[in-house]
Amino acid sequence: MAKTILECDTVSLDEENSALVIVDQTQLPGRIKQLCLTEIEEIWEAIYLLKVRGAPAIGVTAAIGVYLAVKNIEAVNMAVFYKRFQKAKAYLATSRPTAVNLFWALDRMEGVVVKHMDCEINTVKELLRQEAVNIRNEDIEVCRRIGENALELVKPGYGLLTHCNAGRLAAVKYGTATAPMYLGHEKGYKFRIYVDETRPLLQGARLTAFELQEAGMDVTLICDNMSGTIMQKDMVDAVFVGCDRVAANGDTANKIGTSVVAAVAKHYGVPFYVCAPTSTIDMSLAAGSEIPIEERSPEEITEMWYEQRMAPKGVKVYNPCFDVTSHELITGIVTEYGIMRAPYEESLKKLKNI
Ligand code: MRU
Repeated sequence: MAKTILECDTVSLDEENSALVIVDQTQLPGRIKQLCLTEIEEIWEAIYLLKVRGAPAIGVTAAIGVYLAVKNIEAVNMAVFYKRFQKAKAYLATSRPTAVNLFWALDRMEGVVVKHMDCEINTVKELLRQEAVNIRNEDIEVCRRIGENALELVKPGYGLLTHCNAGRLAAVKYGTATAPMYLGHEKGYKFRIYVDETRPLLQGARLTAFELQEAGMDVTLICDNMSGTIMQKDMVDAVFVGCDRVAANGDTANKIGTSVVAAVAKHYGVPFYVCAPTSTIDMSLAAGSEIPIEERSPEEITEMWYEQRMAPKGVKVYNPCFDVTSHELITGIVTEYGIMRAPYEESLKKLKNI
């Protein structure tokens, strides 16, 4: 019997079969198809093609992926094993550029190898397995805590707007921006959730609307150019979005179009919150202008979703996948340790020193 999306793990390690198990998100909402991936090339491609996507889920995938890549390596000593590890890590790191969780998770995995250079290779392999599983399981707890902290910012009956998918499909459970929605829903808060469709790949329509509707929430899908209208009509009490990377000054990269929603929210006096696990905060970058923004293929805009073309052949296309929302437009950054407020240089620095 087909599983519902809420019963499927977004990303997990099948230890018996030495495989990464994901739900192929390019097939949603039409088809719930799980993929068992064993080869590093397949895992790289799954990230690149957005079969698994969303910053936390990409990080977990990379951690499991690098473990699987080195699990069966026969090396004469740890130095050789480490070289092979570094090669696998470097390869997975090229799959997507913006979500810092990818690099954060790979660095955390490398830390395990570096710390145990004097151990048996099999011991290190086992520690890598444990670390990958920890990274996955911690995400559940981190997202739940983000949700609990964000619950302070909402009241029953609130209208909430979100952009893209920062839901359980972008993480392991709860999601980030959707965590207060799931937790509030469990408490009977009866939110009205508005979901931007999120062009060009429709993560809002295909994924967020799908998972929240399956969870029994009151969901209304809107086109990306309608958020101004619903804010003007006082239908939105707060905006919650996720993010792929937060710079030291609080500037935040998230799905393209997020900065437009933030500017409109500021105009209408609607609070705009970014939900971010601390793993998404990159203190090595001073400002959002330094965040690498992925540019994807023109076909995603011109011919992705219909058999008929959606634009004339040969038209010039600009397809940045993320944009940067200035910290000035952000009311608060909700982390697992609490809600960060401006000045973000100070609050984020303190947070990262915890
Ligand atoms: O291109 P995607 O689908 O990976 O983009 C995802 C987003 O922009 C999410 O909002 C972000 O990764 C946060 S997920 C908790």
